[in-house]
Amino acid sequence: MSNETTPASGNCCGPTATTPREAPAAVGRTESADLPVVVIGAGPVGLAAAAHLTERGLPFLVLEAGSDVAASVRQWGHVRLFSPWRYNIDAAARRLLAAAGWAEPDLEVLPTGGELVEEYLRPFAKLPALAPHIRYDAAVVAIGRVGVDRVRTAGREQAPFMVRLADGTDILARAVIDASGTWTAPNVLGANGLAAHGEADAAAWIDHALPDVLGAGRDAYAGKHTVVVGSGHSAANTLLALAELAEQAPDTRITWALRGGSADRAFGGGDADGLPARGALGTGLRLLVSSGRVELVTGFGVHAVRRLTDGHVELVDATGRTIAADRIVGATGFRPDHTISGELRLDLDPILGCTRALAPLIDPNEHSCGSVRPHGVDELTQPEPGYFAVGMKSYGRAPTFLMATGYEQARSITAAMAGDWDAARDVQLELPETGVCSTTVGARAMVDDATDRFDMAASSGGGCCG
Ligand SMILES: Cc1cc2nc3c(=O)[nH]c(=O)nc-3n(C[C@H](O)[C@H](O)[C@H](O)COP(=O)(O)OP(=O)(O)OC[C@H]3O[C@@H](n4cnc5c(N)ncnc54)[C@H](O)[C@@H]3O)c2cc1C
Ligand SMILES: NC(=O)c1ccc[n+]([C@@H]2O[C@H](COP(=O)([O-])OP(=O)(O)OC[C@H]3O[C@@H](n4cnc5c(N)ncnc54)[C@H](OP(=O)(O)O)[C@@H]3O)[C@@H](O)[C@H]2O)c1
Repeated sequence: MSNETTPASGNCCGPTATTPREAPAAVGRTESADLPVVVIGAGPVGLAAAAHLTERGLPFLVLEAGSDVAASVRQWGHVRLFSPWRYNIDAAARRLLAAAGWAEPDLEVLPTGGELVEEYLRPFAKLPALAPHIRYDAAVVAIGRVGVDRVRTAGREQAPFMVRLADGTDILARAVIDASGTWTAPNVLGANGLAAHGEADAAAWIDHALPDVLGAGRDAYAGKHTVVVGSGHSAANTLLALAELAEQAPDTRITWALRGGSADRAFGGGDADGLPARGALGTGLRLLVSSGRVELVTGFGVHAVRRLTDGHVELVDATGRTIAADRIVGATGFRPDHTISGELRLDLDPILGCTRALAPLIDPNEHSCGSVRPHGVDELTQPEPGYFAVGMKSYGRAPTFLMATGYEQARSITAAMAGDWDAARDVQLELPETGVCSTTVGARAMVDDATDRFDMAASSGGGCCG
């Protein structure tokens, strides 16, 4: 594939980390400039990168681990997004789709993950300009550079990347855009970030975030006792879905174990929350707890998981408290997997595992969805010239990533690869604090769903979306 692509027209690979604001030197070796940009992952952001590379006339190859587009999003296809279509479609992808006669969805509607794939990502990946440049069942296991290991400096910038697939194939690349996400690396149950004792042994009793409890996973949850661990949107979604299941299968019992002392942060701010859809999740959660549909256990940091002889499983905290259940849902977030880039020179923020320049912009203690200021190639540049992590992975462990942010990252980086540094540095993301998650028909519907389901007035839960 790499040798079949046409030569690139521009310079590549961005500035070095030590001189992030300076224009980069041209790539010296012509054999490197002839190679494609390899994009890892055909999720929303990897495909956005492909769209921008197409528009820039740069050769590229998308390598996707799954057998179809957006393998990770398809796993949470039953979940409704909290950002409407308006913010979920990349601008370059939209232009390419529109030129092919695509019927754009209603921009104010909140799609599910499945609809995101069926109505946008799959049609996009099938465009004749894209399809030949996407390879499926192509899991990347390692990235290096031809002839230089991580230690060797001489000739490094000129050496092409070598991207290794699980089947042993090596693919040469002029640059690498790593959009492999974090979905495949869920956090553990152990409250200190290490696997809880017995966690691996009890794996058959544990689902990671967002099992489809009302659909494919229903039999495992209906009429059973489930304990959900974690306090983010995944926990909220699962608790709401389990409560709906309990309406249909009354013996269903739900416990929510928080390692923190209070659920206030998870409940969100109701009307005061700048993010109505997120507020809606919190509002729903508050209703579930206050009405007794969900039993809340606070201050419960999982220390061990034990299989019981009666077929149940038991969580144990550091003080010896226990919660026995039929199933456990670990909704404890995700972490980036940097193993594929272990032979590259990465300077990662010690807390989040993103670039050091990005870390202060996305510290979860300071920032919430939509409040992160625009950023692009400069903030995402690593000491390894030509390697960029974008999308969900670019945020490391910070949970506030939005697709629209990833689309702007992809636009900025690909502009830099084409040598268009004015465009690369003109980061244009408009995410006002309430922008992406502003009041929408869908956000209101989420609150209405929750209040209808539990026979409560919307105002009783703090309200949202007025
Ligand atoms: C349940 C859920 C709901 C969300 N809702 C919203 C929302 O409402 N609005 C919003 O803006 N954001 C939302 N997000 C956050 C984020 O925008 C999404 O996770 C989005 O899918 C991230 O896109 P991505 O392309 O960076 O990563 P992903 O969608 O995770 O795609 C990564 C791709 O890389 C592939 N891959 C992984 N490893 C390899 C490998 N080694 N080699 C080759 N391919 C590989 C995967 O198969 C996958 O297709 C949500 C996230 C989750 C989990
Ligand atoms: N559109 C939607 O409806 C939707 C649904 C799901 C997810 N998402 C998105 O997907 C991304 C991931 O969300 P997420 O909820 O899966 O992850 P998350 O936002 O990282 O939340 C997980 C939370 O669980 C807690 N936690 C972490 N490790 C723990 C442990 N070992 N034990 C107990 N608690 C632990 C942490 O909160 P404390 O530190 O407070 O304990 C952490 O914030 C986010 O961007 C989110 O917005 C969106």
